[in-house]
Amino acid sequence: MSPWERYVVPNLISCACSSRPIMKQRAKVVPKADGVVLELGCGSGTNFAMYDAGKVEKLYALEPAPGMIVKARRTAGSLGIGKSIEFLETGAEHIPLADKSVDTAVITFVLCTIPDWKSALAETRRVLKPGGKILFTEHGLSPDENISKWQRRIEPVWKSIAGGCHLTRDSVSLLRESGFVCDDAETMYLPNSPKIAGYVSWGSARAA
Ligand SMILES: C[S@@+](CC[C@H](N)C(=O)[O-])C[C@H]1O[C@@H](n2cnc3c(N)ncnc32)[C@H](O)[C@@H]1O
Repeated sequence: MSPWERYVVPNLISCACSSRPIMKQRAKVVPKADGVVLELGCGSGTNFAMYDAGKVEKLYALEPAPGMIVKARRTAGSLGIGKSIEFLETGAEHIPLADKSVDTAVITFVLCTIPDWKSALAETRRVLKPGGKILFTEHGLSPDENISKWQRRIEPVWKSIAGGCHLTRDSVSLLRESGFVCDDAETMYLPNSPKIAGYVSWGSARAA
């Protein structure tokens, strides 16, 4: 791992992922989590403060990047919830949890980055209980050709500076391709944000 990836990317991402429009996106989904919750790619733990403690029985926070884990532990400590979170220091392609053990999987601004999203969503499906749900909000491919053509052009450079983040993934399609039903998905451009990174989707998904 290069010094850029180890030291700069975690700060860059934490900062970009805490903008006001992005925090509003998180607030649309994270408080709906209940039961045993698995957050995929928790990053620096920006969502932790948004969980409803009265509804969450247990929180597994999965994250493979050591620099992010350090930050996430610090966030949990500062919120006084360090003891109730179990960190899984690995990628979502191999989730170290039993089949049918999770009520809610939380996926925020992470499907854009996971290298093998197919395996990650297959694993998410495996660990979800029957009737369990994914709550998600992601940025991704714009439906407008004048934006998407720039997303395609910029993506190779963007990926290399932004920790592997893709601009052209369509998360709702990825969820559907992975066997999830996603009836309540909504989309919009984030206000006051560059459109190439600001086309967002959010909603819930359940195994078909
Ligand atoms: C843009 S950040 C978002 C972090 C967090 N989900 C949030 O909403 O702030 C993307 C995160 O995905 C993590 N990531 C990268 N590869 C991953 C993988 N294979 N499985 C799970 N997370 C991964 C990165 O380390 C990073 O923390």
